Amino acid sequence: MSQLFSPIELDGHTVRNRLWVAPMCMYSAVDGMPNDWHHVHLAQFAAGGAGMVITEATAVLPEGRISPEDVGLWNDAQAEAWAPIAAAIRARGAVPALQLAHAGRKASTWSPFSGRGHGSVPEAEGGWETLAPSQVAFEGYAPPAALTVDQLDELVAAFGAAAARAVRAGFEALEVHAAHGYLLHEFLSPLSNHRDDAYGGSLENRARLLLRVIDAVHAAAPGALLMVRFSAQDWAEGGWDLAQTATVATWAAEHGAAFVDVSSGGLVAHQQITTGPGYQVPLAAGIRRATGLPVGAVGEITSGTQAEAILAAGDADVVLAGREWLRDPHFALRAAGEIGDTDLAPWPAPYLRARRRA
Ligand SMILES: Cc1cc2nc3c(=O)[nH]c(=O)nc-3n(C[C@H](O)[C@H](O)[C@H](O)COP(=O)(O)O)c2cc1C
Repeated sequence: MSQLFSPIELDGHTVRNRLWVAPMCMYSAVDGMPNDWHHVHLAQFAAGGAGMVITEATAVLPEGRISPEDVGLWNDAQAEAWAPIAAAIRARGAVPALQLAHAGRKASTWSPFSGRGHGSVPEAEGGWETLAPSQVAFEGYAPPAALTVDQLDELVAAFGAAAARAVRAGFEALEVHAAHGYLLHEFLSPLSNHRDDAYGGSLENRARLLLRVIDAVHAAAPGALLMVRFSAQDWAEGGWDLAQTATVATWAAEHGAAFVDVSSGGLVAHQQITTGPGYQVPLAAGIRRATGLPVGAVGEITSGTQAEAILAAGDADVVLAGREWLRDPHFALRAAGEIGDTDLAPWPAPYLRARRRA
């Protein structure tokens, strides 16, 4: 029996297997509009056997884009452009999911292949002033403005509006991006949140914005599978950690989240981290054991045997992969062979003749 290729049921939604595509920015949009690149890119993973395909970080407001080339969902034209992409994922048997995001103080940066290096895009070149919990810059980036309470209300509403558009566009699952040093993570971590109002200080206060966002998304998209991505570690002294993540994940579940996607890092430039195969699996396992919630493990998981072993050990309920899908868009079809039974994977009928080499 393969766990990797067993369906999983989450909050009434059935996903055909447990090998999913993690969100990955393509930095290939104009005015936040997904296009032909995003369509082919995302649909190919569904044909390649993924259980769920999660879009890249999709900005709920223009100023929430990581780079000017990020996709968004702050208007109806964007929702219309997303609709055929969600349909293409679904038509190939995978659950279409969208990651709702705001980049906070790490917005308005050069895309990795712009040729302009790291750092902030000046306003004269299409950038904008960034927003954050406090006026504390990410090292090497322009200083952000601190969000006012009125702006926080607008931000929560923008998450809700984008969630409603995502559902109208055909997405079945929504992932709130609270990881990688972007806005919601910036509120969670004491290293970036120095506020002394109801959104700073105690853990309850630092988690307040995330829980309001989850409430807004849940209210706007009551039938959607609601997931949250956390960085379970800042990999920095005095930062956000596993214990705080577990507590807030439990609160998130009380507010309607049904799945926790466990990543790490991204809040500070100099992280005390060593990466390697499965390097974040212990974090997923820690959250799973502390909360009893269904969790996903991600990070350098590159083969069917490795993924199956993670599930068999009880360290996670789902495996997400990023770069392995870029190397091989048919990763799930290949992974089934790696665990010894190529028939386990959901081969598209037109590909069946390739199922066996002999
Ligand atoms: C090109 C690229 C873009 C990414 N963009 C996002 C993103 O939009 N949102 C997110 O939460 N993580 C993003 N990530 C992180 C991945 O989702 C994943 O967590 C990370 O790459 C580790 O998994 P891997 O070793 O399987 O690639 C990105 C990673 C890559 C390689």
